[in-house]
Amino acid sequence: MPFPKQRLRRLRRKEALRKMVRETHLRIDDLIFPVFVRSGKGQKVEISSMPGIFQYSIDTVCKELEDVQSLGIPAILLFGLPDSKDELGSQAYAPQGIVQQAIKEIKGSFPTLIVIADICLCAYTNHGHCGIIKDGVVENDQTLGILRKIALSQVEAGADMVAPSDMMDGRVGAIRTALDSNGFSHIPIMSYAAKYASQFYGPFREASDSAPQFGDRRSYQMDPANAEEALREIALDIEEGADIVMVKPALAYLDVIYRAKQKFNHPLAAYNVSGEYSMVKAAAMKGMIEEKGVMMEILQSIKRAGADFIITYFAKEAAKLIRK
Ligand code: PBG
Repeated sequence: MPFPKQRLRRLRRKEALRKMVRETHLRIDDLIFPVFVRSGKGQKVEISSMPGIFQYSIDTVCKELEDVQSLGIPAILLFGLPDSKDELGSQAYAPQGIVQQAIKEIKGSFPTLIVIADICLCAYTNHGHCGIIKDGVVENDQTLGILRKIALSQVEAGADMVAPSDMMDGRVGAIRTALDSNGFSHIPIMSYAAKYASQFYGPFREASDSAPQFGDRRSYQMDPANAEEALREIALDIEEGADIVMVKPALAYLDVIYRAKQKFNHPLAAYNVSGEYSMVKAAAMKGMIEEKGVMMEILQSIKRAGADFIITYFAKEAAKLIRK
């Protein structure tokens, strides 16, 4: 039925009408807030490339989480900065490691907040890679043994969910088996299933002090040119037992998010990564864009593409706007 009988502008005339026909609804329940913890007391250190995002010591993180909880944000994704690093990243699975201590404290004070623990080695190894190095290359199968230990130490500390971000093959299955055989079959896994070797992670590497000391991550993270391969990664992770699969980064990969949702219809997260956050902040600080509008448009686009959850440094700012 063409013009003039059909006029799409009729339903755009008033805000109430626009609301009625709105297709995508970003909810506070969709948001996951990444949090960085470090040792010490009274620490709240701003990450210079991520204005408004801080590294917290365990005491100050609890103050921050009061805000997060009162805004109704259901979950955080926890990253740790250890005091010491070694070849094997042993602080990642130490029972008194920074993340393990933080999980205990946070769950003690905020029992209903969902604490998701990131599983990776890059912030804990002295070489900054996400796995064990043998003859200059990241060794897959030996790394799996360490990832299992990390997962167990995190859930023993009280984590509600674990999120492997290392991109080793077979890690979801390895972690699932470790959890199941130790009485943790009820703990879900959110896998960074399609994680690209992206330049958008730059600011995060400052935040978590996790830049590789030699080479890059292209032998384990995905080539940004590939989408079919992302679907294969996701299929394998679902087979291995992933409860939630993730596409990361989000903004330059909306097609992958869309295709993943269409193909698998599995709970799907997207990571609106550090570089995506910092670009918006930098442009806004220069007065080049209207920050809040751009932020909401980006988050909405990620949801519209098919993500069920969005991991975002904007979580608190977005929640404030959604709540209004
Ligand atoms: C660790 C990890 C990274 C991010 C999350 N977990 C960085 C990387 O792989 O180099 C990036 C998150 C962000 O940029 O916000 N493997």
